Amino acid sequence: MKDGEDNLGETPPEIFRQQLHRLADWIADYRGKIETLRVAPDSKPGAIRAALPSQPPEQGEPFEKILADVDRVILPGMVHWSHPMFLAYFGWTATAPGILSEMISAPLNVNAMTWRTSPAATELETLVIDWLRQWMRLPGNFEGVIYDTASVGIMHALAVAREEAAPSTRKLGLTGRDLPRFRIYTSDQAHSSAEKAAIALGLGEESVCRVPSDNEFRMETSLLRKTVAHDRECGFKPLAVIATVGTTSTASLDPVAEIAQLCREEKMWLHIDGAYGGGFAVMPEYEWIAEGWSEANSIIINPHKTLFVPLDFSVLYVRDIERLRRVFSLVPEYLRGDTLETEKNYMDYGIQLGRRFRALKAWMIWRAFGREGILALMREHLRLARLFGEWVAASDDFELSAPVSMGVVCFRAKHETDAFNSRIVESINQSGRAYLNQTKLRGQTVIRLGLGNILTTEKHLRDAWELIQETARSVSSSSRA
Ligand SMILES: Cc1ncc(COP(=O)(O)O)c(C=O)c1O
Repeated sequence: MKDGEDNLGETPPEIFRQQLHRLADWIADYRGKIETLRVAPDSKPGAIRAALPSQPPEQGEPFEKILADVDRVILPGMVHWSHPMFLAYFGWTATAPGILSEMISAPLNVNAMTWRTSPAATELETLVIDWLRQWMRLPGNFEGVIYDTASVGIMHALAVAREEAAPSTRKLGLTGRDLPRFRIYTSDQAHSSAEKAAIALGLGEESVCRVPSDNEFRMETSLLRKTVAHDRECGFKPLAVIATVGTTSTASLDPVAEIAQLCREEKMWLHIDGAYGGGFAVMPEYEWIAEGWSEANSIIINPHKTLFVPLDFSVLYVRDIERLRRVFSLVPEYLRGDTLETEKNYMDYGIQLGRRFRALKAWMIWRAFGREGILALMREHLRLARLFGEWVAASDDFELSAPVSMGVVCFRAKHETDAFNSRIVESINQSGRAYLNQTKLRGQTVIRLGLGNILTTEKHLRDAWELIQETARSVSSSSRA
């Protein structure tokens, strides 16, 4: 730190205050000018590193110089996910209350591993998990834990399923024991975090069986039933089904109630991956998507995708959460003094010990918007998605590739090749004017748009639609040339 006089430690308070004011302006300016920036950078891999010294600094450097490098090198090297023309993935968003809440948790810098090490962080975590439970009308026997991501959540959920199907795995592990080969079922549209969890849990990637989906990309329950029966005949032990509410490519919804019934009959763990779509259960008009949820053993919701909380914030709900605690609770001696048995110690509910104060941001954002504010925003995103779907459906040159579901629209240039559709997305992303993504549906490349950004308006969407059509025309003429 060179800003102070003879200061061996922290920045002197008055200088720190000036830096904070400077940064407040920087944040407000960034937010104010975001629309004028390229959505994605123009840089080539390695260019950002090349513009910075490769040797670590020997002497401390002044804040001004570091901030100047942020402006000179870092900012132009960013994909601006909060840009109103960032329309890829699920179009998530940074909100003003979200940014403010992150600013409060930075100086606190607590470790919410036990109640004693951070009482307010622990109790706020329990509170916001319960607020969300109430909003989604989940029964009171669902309690939860906040992790960084859904991928981590699903691994923990399946660890409980594994422990219950193969008792003492926590203690003895899986090897050297006479255990059946487990099977986990999910649809061909489900997220790859299913396989990642199976890899981490020693069940093996191949334990995940992908069940085909129907015309609307929903898991075919009749095929699931047949597959489970066939697997039993072959000596496998069906362990769990992962039903998705809002799949990654098309936001399709598996028939959870039917799947729940099969899980009950076959005594399989039911996990609901609502990482994207689950948050829509907050809306009265989407209440129907939660049918069958009360029978689930575990449910994941990512408020960082749909409920306006900045990355990272994912909630795993478990019916009777004591089952999760039994698998992961382990108190080393050095933490015993900070571990009150009667209080919730969130370190007991997962492999992570150190934990950020994530609950603060959800608490602040949800208070700032209120349920009505959140519903109004979500309804606007749904309206925009439907509107875009109507433009595509009315077009001579494009067609919808899947029903418009929640905030996601999948479409493609009619009668054109996969390469042609990919080139549209790549050219737009390279132009810096918008950012889309592409996926494959039934082997065909499709263009994909996700509406969820608080800054995206109908005007932006119209601009994006014009850009897509204009780019398709130029790709077409350059491929003819
Ligand atoms: C349906 C679904 N499940 C799980 C995930 C993984 O989410 P995370 O990035 O929080 O691990 C995603 C990511 O987009 C997803 O779409």
